[in-house]
Amino acid sequence: MDQDDHVCLCFRVSLRKLNTFLHCERPRVASELSECFGAGTGCHWCVPFLKELHRQWQNGQQCNLDEEKDDYARHRAAYRKRIGDSTKVDE
Ligand code: FES
Repeated sequence: MDQDDHVCLCFRVSLRKLNTFLHCERPRVASELSECFGAGTGCHWCVPFLKELHRQWQNGQQCNLDEEKDDYARHRAAYRKRIGDSTKVDE
């Protein structure tokens, strides 16, 4: 995933924004990433990925996701269909 790709597609929160938030705000728990432009508070698809980024950061690793942008979006669309999420957040 590139730095400008969106991890939270609902609220268009990029990997770069999340990395900046992690390094500046130093959240104690992954759920505090929701304070970064609402990441994870829409359809919740990205929550496991936010937790993974937080885990990497806690371990002093470079934060990134081994995900291709298009595959990530496609899997999220399937997830939303599966859960019956019809909210009109970012597609
Ligand atoms: S993709 Fe992050 S809450 Fe929906």
